[in-house]
Amino acid sequence: MSRTTSFKLVLLGESAVGKSSLVLRFVRNEFSDFRESTIAAFLTQTVSLDENTSIKFEIWDTAGQERYKSLAPIYFRNSNAAVIVYDITQAPEASFEKAKSWVRELQRQADPSIVIMLVGNKLDMESQRKTPREMGERFAQEEGLSFAEASAKSGDGVEQLFMEIAKKLPLA
Ligand code: GTP
Ligand code: MG
Repeated sequence: MSRTTSFKLVLLGESAVGKSSLVLRFVRNEFSDFRESTIAAFLTQTVSLDENTSIKFEIWDTAGQERYKSLAPIYFRNSNAAVIVYDITQAPEASFEKAKSWVRELQRQADPSIVIMLVGNKLDMESQRKTPREMGERFAQEEGLSFAEASAKSGDGVEQLFMEIAKKLPLA
């Protein structure tokens, strides 16, 4: 018998790091170089873990812009998983530090069982990298988070990161 279990997933991170782009790559296999800033968007995507088990992601893509920051708890409060995104082509102070502060906020405010994945995006721009991979890797390890680098533009690592989350979610 085939069974689908639904989970809520939220994306968090500084504006323009590529949250919406990662979701649209995952859900529709699309990418655009020009994407408008998000207020909030809801999308779903179902993946199969094996022939009998599927996971339906109910995804809230949130606003990175500071003026919408107070809305974030509405979206992460009941989330089973969070993808926290930063941009590897920016200096750590620009978006990696913001990602770290989202991790802290989830540790304080979200459900203690939430699965957190830290993602360094824009891996296609490796030559312009300003945040070393090891910096993300080390922080994720210290905090017990999953970690990946990906590119919404090339698609590199995108499916894999959502599959890794799917495998960590608790099936009843
Ligand atoms: P907010 O909605 O304002 O919080 O931003 P966001 O995090 O959703 O960023 P968005 O997906 O809108 O992407 C911002 C810009 O970065 C857009 O111009 C995208 O085309 C670009 N972008 C996103 N992902 C990538 C990527 O992997 N590689 C490259 N080169 N550009 C990307
Ligand atoms: Mg967006």
